[in-house]
Amino acid sequence: MDALQCIRSRRSGRSYEDRPIPKDTINELLRLGTKAATGSGMQPWGFVVLEGRERIEALSTEIKAWLRPRLAELPWLAQYEEWLRKDSYNIFYNAPALVAVYGDPASHWHVYDASLCAANIMLAAHAQGLGTCWIGFAESFMNRSDIKSRYHVPEDFRLISVLTLGFARGHLPEAERRTPRVFYRG
Ligand SMILES: Cc1cc2nc3c(=O)[nH]c(=O)nc-3n(C[C@H](O)[C@H](O)[C@H](O)COP(=O)(O)O)c2cc1C
Repeated sequence: MDALQCIRSRRSGRSYEDRPIPKDTINELLRLGTKAATGSGMQPWGFVVLEGRERIEALSTEIKAWLRPRLAELPWLAQYEEWLRKDSYNIFYNAPALVAVYGDPASHWHVYDASLCAANIMLAAHAQGLGTCWIGFAESFMNRSDIKSRYHVPEDFRLISVLTLGFARGHLPEAERRTPRVFYRG
């Protein structure tokens, strides 16, 4: 698949085959992530990789339990309350792997850099038949001090993106988007 076709056809995958991803594949995805542009060349990113469906499902259960009483403080998630209250809803869609991308605020550009890194991982995964989905539901939880400590993330790093990763099941049509709003063209 060429780069243009890869960008054109990437979708958020929410259904995965029940098989693990080889460790070398995940390592290569992280390396490709770090090829992203990076402000002042600072490369202010770091990763947490979790593998194993059951373990990741248990994390989903933990996150939902933490989110439910806090939805009033997280108004951008309020519209998803019904999903988050469902025991059967796995926020990670039974993915066999997760990659969390953290940014180092020592760089002014860390949010942009780590987001570009996550986007590279999504596209590189798609190019080889792997599905990803950015899981905003996991943002606040994975940024908690005790959770960063659980996964050996330095306290000052900030969670930017949590991505599910798995061999994609099924095929989604190309995304439809609004026509780009061009505010000025001189
Ligand atoms: C910052 C961000 C947060 C997202 N959070 C979630 C999420 O928590 N759960 C989910 O299923 N999808 C999540 N998504 C995926 C979006 O729903 C998806 O990108 C959007 O519907 C467009 O679909 P597409 O990626 O297939 O083109 C998130 C995407 C982004 C960029």
